Amino acid sequence: MSDTLELPRLEDFSDPAFDAFAAERASRGDYPDPYPLIEQLRQQGAVHHVQYRSLFTDRPDAQVGHMDHWTVFGYDACNQILMDHENFTNWEAFQHNLGVSFGRTITCMDGAEHARFRKVLQKALLPNVVSKWGDSLVAPVMDKLLGKFIGQGHADLVEDYTHHFPFQIVYAMLHIGDDQAAVFHKLAVAQLLSAAGLPQGAEATRKLGDFFKVYLQKVRANPSDDLMSYLSTVEVDGERLEDEVLIAFMRQLLNAGGDTTYRATSVLLTCLLKEPGLYQQVQEDRSLLGSAIEEALRWDGPVTSTFRFCKNATSVQGTIIPAGAMVNVCLGSANRDPGKYENPDRFDIFRKRTVRHLAFAGGPHLCVGQHLARVEMHRAMGAILDNLHNLRLDPDRPAPVIIGHLLRAPDHIHVKFDPA
Ligand code: HEM
Repeated sequence: MSDTLELPRLEDFSDPAFDAFAAERASRGDYPDPYPLIEQLRQQGAVHHVQYRSLFTDRPDAQVGHMDHWTVFGYDACNQILMDHENFTNWEAFQHNLGVSFGRTITCMDGAEHARFRKVLQKALLPNVVSKWGDSLVAPVMDKLLGKFIGQGHADLVEDYTHHFPFQIVYAMLHIGDDQAAVFHKLAVAQLLSAAGLPQGAEATRKLGDFFKVYLQKVRANPSDDLMSYLSTVEVDGERLEDEVLIAFMRQLLNAGGDTTYRATSVLLTCLLKEPGLYQQVQEDRSLLGSAIEEALRWDGPVTSTFRFCKNATSVQGTIIPAGAMVNVCLGSANRDPGKYENPDRFDIFRKRTVRHLAFAGGPHLCVGQHLARVEMHRAMGAILDNLHNLRLDPDRPAPVIIGHLLRAPDHIHVKFDPA
């Protein structure tokens, strides 16, 4: 799309002072470490008749709290459910939550409908496609953000860097300028507040939808070689993708694409900086970066649990999950299963990678943005490793603590470095 075209204005909240970030933080909670309890339950059995969320917070889930929840722990049980899309489906699992926040996204689809749309998105986000965005889209965002604090000698790598770069990459992808970025960030994050029963969740969903509706018309009138031009004009089986699905994808791209990658990069930085000498080792041998990224995703991936709906009563590791149950698939437990990973609680970038982690889930709904996430994380880390010399945690500020029972990240990473 030509940059000369005027984009529509995204309308701010009717209360512009509403603090979406504080509300989001309050809704996800600050549970420090869910892993000991997860492991205790896994040792007792793979399948428990309990809601994952209720293990960590008394605050009810406004959207799916009423359903009959079961939670599944351990690698084999989680993998079985993710792979078995006949018995464990997405529509009934996500229609009340992500379906409300994003609309008709592929996360809420099953079977042939899912395959039809997924095929197109997958093609648009193949490794050979997204790797080209590293220079054109991703690197300029990193340079701009680093440029703001590189001369200071200190920073909060979450507030100043990780919390912004994946969102800004999406803005660059969609040609959204700096003048609109702040409102986009707020609304992108606020979309999931419907789960906490806050009206700003629906307001964000509606306002982003109104924006993207006009946006799509503009892209179609003046297409170029970017992602949305491709998606809005491509034909599948002789038909264009419906606007409803494209708008839902854009809402999801803003939120899921931004939020997860920021969290994963923050966790990686925390791990590298907290273990003495580890950051320096990666700095000296960049070939370690890929395995460091995979280990951070395994060890404490941003999404600790996802949902499936049990369509037909099914035996999982000897326990029957009844038809009609909401199944909480604990990816965090799968990724720390001692049957699959030696010494699983240890963050070890040198471990042999023989078992694929489930941080991006698995089966037909395996994260379609995983290649982009990896490119972004590589570039974000590369920019820090190249430019912030003698980087270390600030000894005068609290060390970073990864928190959250469902979406994990530290709130702050206070660091010092030699000013450039
Ligand atoms: C480290 C970063 C990321 C993590 C950990 C992550 C995690 C996940 C997980 C666990 C799922 C499966 C959800 C389920 O069906 O239960 C998923 C699906 C998805 N992700 Fe990601 N994601 C990341 C980055 C991204 C990015 C950058 C994008 C944007 C392009 C993206 C877009 C999607 C989409 C569209 C789906 C739905 C796929 C489908 O249902 O077929 N994700 N992601």
